Amino acid sequence: MVGPKVWSVLIVLTLALCAGCSRKNLANESAASRNPADVNGARILAADREPGNWMIHGRTYNEQRFSPLKFVNDKNAGELGLAWHYDLDTARGQEATPLVVDGVMYFTSAWTKVFALNAATGARLWSYDPKVPPAWAVNACCDVVNRGVAVWEGKVFVGTLDGRLIALDAGTGKVLWETLTVDRDARYTITGAPRVVKGKVIIGNGGGEFGVRGYVSAYDAGTGKMVWRFYTVPGDPSKPFESPILERAAKTWTGEWWKFGGGGTVWDAIVYDPELDLLYVGVGNGGPWNSKYRSPKGGDNLLTCSIVALRPDTGEYVWHYQEDSADEWDFDSSEQIILADIPIDGKPRKVLLHAPKNGFFYVIDRENGAVISGKPYTFVNWATGLDLKTGRPIETDIARYPGNNPPPIVPGPLGAHSWQPMSYSPLTGLTYIPVNDVGFKFKSTEGFEFKKLAANYGIDVVAAGMPQDPKIKKAILDTVKGKLVAWDPAQQKQVWAVERPGPWNGGTLVTAGNLVFEGTAAGRFDAYRADTGERVWSFDAQTGVMAGPVTYTVNGEQYVAVLAGWGGVFPLATGEVSFRSGRVRNVSRMLAFKLGGKASLPPLPEVEEPALKPPSTRASAAQVARGERLFQRYCAACHGDVAVSGGILPDLRYSSTLSNDLWYHIVLDGQLQTEGMVSFAKELSHDDAKAIRDYVIQRAQQTLAQEKSAVQAKPKADAK
Ligand code: HEC
Repeated sequence: MVGPKVWSVLIVLTLALCAGCSRKNLANESAASRNPADVNGARILAADREPGNWMIHGRTYNEQRFSPLKFVNDKNAGELGLAWHYDLDTARGQEATPLVVDGVMYFTSAWTKVFALNAATGARLWSYDPKVPPAWAVNACCDVVNRGVAVWEGKVFVGTLDGRLIALDAGTGKVLWETLTVDRDARYTITGAPRVVKGKVIIGNGGGEFGVRGYVSAYDAGTGKMVWRFYTVPGDPSKPFESPILERAAKTWTGEWWKFGGGGTVWDAIVYDPELDLLYVGVGNGGPWNSKYRSPKGGDNLLTCSIVALRPDTGEYVWHYQEDSADEWDFDSSEQIILADIPIDGKPRKVLLHAPKNGFFYVIDRENGAVISGKPYTFVNWATGLDLKTGRPIETDIARYPGNNPPPIVPGPLGAHSWQPMSYSPLTGLTYIPVNDVGFKFKSTEGFEFKKLAANYGIDVVAAGMPQDPKIKKAILDTVKGKLVAWDPAQQKQVWAVERPGPWNGGTLVTAGNLVFEGTAAGRFDAYRADTGERVWSFDAQTGVMAGPVTYTVNGEQYVAVLAGWGGVFPLATGEVSFRSGRVRNVSRMLAFKLGGKASLPPLPEVEEPALKPPSTRASAAQVARGERLFQRYCAACHGDVAVSGGILPDLRYSSTLSNDLWYHIVLDGQLQTEGMVSFAKELSHDDAKAIRDYVIQRAQQTLAQEKSAVQAKPKADAK
């Protein structure tokens, strides 16, 4: 361990060194002689001495996603061009941050496939497919995504959607070991990138809305043996608690929460702090969302929605800070954590920076978990501020959705900021956050029943659906926005912002070249001046770009790379809301840019506009209402809110199966199981499937009528 003083001197020194970064000391002469992925703790600690590599998820242990490279800078960014692209065979959301070590790029695609490419040319060195069973997709809340690999001493580690942790030989892609990290009877998924700390691979999982109990585990990097596991929520209190903190935590729960697992999954942020030898993990939402069904007599429900500090060697609890007590809104605290030393009241403090879904930007003391400050970084209506004495939000009257017709809560479950990584530049002192502005109508439901194949929110999923009255719909859609915000964490204020048409834009990268890179939901990849937000470069990526970009060098030449490919929970689940961001297709590929790059993308193939031809049958209003309820609970997470698909998976209103029995073969017999469409026969009867179809037919007829009246209205407008 490096002492705190030595550490900050090291940072200053390496930053100073790199201020004069020459091509020579970046060329990494030793690269050729190194073995593949020859990465260890000492090398990561000294990562600023070799800024041409991107060896861990957030580049350095502090996960700032700041690069000291500046061959590409605000003066010449306009000369950036495509160097190469590598096309993928998975047309689903792409969320991975690639790693680059000694000229080799390692990353994952949807369905947890792993790739190693020549980072200068994009030529494939090897690829690996863990063959995730397609039916496992029904357990994923948010698409079959993956956010990347970790590398360590010649191995590449990946957590698969179906809960395995796999070690691959970095030179060949061959499996070295494989460990199941979850109980396959529960709906666990892994989408997050593992981290390796002192020879241990740390991995969490997701499934908070599907009845799981959250935890994070450490495995020996050499053997795959589990070293420790830390549960984030208490289990059945009649059994021994796994750790002393869980005994304390159990006092903050009521009812029989363990029957639904409680949630609290560690699905993204895992950060190692070498100065304090602490591991910080971000803990997710409570499950079911509605606390009435999770902890009926109240309680804070620790450690959901908390940042927890653990000892990396043992998994021992050190401190926690809960951002939302008794979560009701799917307000995870799993969003990425950045470590920084920033001036507070004139004195440098060791802090962690956090912009979780709830809309507040937190500056937290990493030594003890005390919150230093917290301010909304965008519009929020569920809280007016933070009580710094207690660390608790000051909730508004509407926060816990009282009554029968509560107003939407902003932000909603999409989060004001989600998994798309933010970045922090020690040069500008600013954090660059991809912000979503989209609310959600929570209404408590009566008689909630837990189901194994459905979403288990405990809220009224019909009330949450988009209303069809055009005026109300327009009013809702007009509030949906996105932006890139440059936030000063020391002053807790916005310095600049770039408005976007809608949410779900990409993660950010900031460089010493005074550049911020960000992909957009509308299909571009942009560069901005980090100090002012002025756009200096933009590239037509043909698809939504969500993942975190990276930058690296090979033979002294700087590249910027980003994984492109629209998807994730936003286009899958939110229906028409997702059209606000720009209606793009999924075209999945790795894109790499350099100054003077001359490659180009092939033109997008034309697609035929599908025709709406619903059958003319009309079911009773009661039947349609039954179908709607079932659709919203079982189908909307993939086929879109109120049967409007965001374009990644089939829009059922257009399906030819509305008028033949194929519908039942698909929904009940699993005819498309190998494509990720599971059979629902265990929970839905033929009658249920018919009711759902009657609802979709009604929606298709409604859409057709709306389209016709729009066409009829048009000539009048044109005649002017
Ligand atoms: C976990 C995601 C997921 C859920 C939940 C889901 N589906 Fe699907 N569904 C898919 C995928 C993926 C496909 C496309 C398969 C392919 O590529 O052919 C699909 C295809 C279909 C099709 C064929 C559409 C066509 O014309 O091509 C029908 C019908 C269908 N789903 C009905 C349903 C119904 C009804 C529900 C709810 C009971 C449901 N699905 C829930 C993922 C899902």
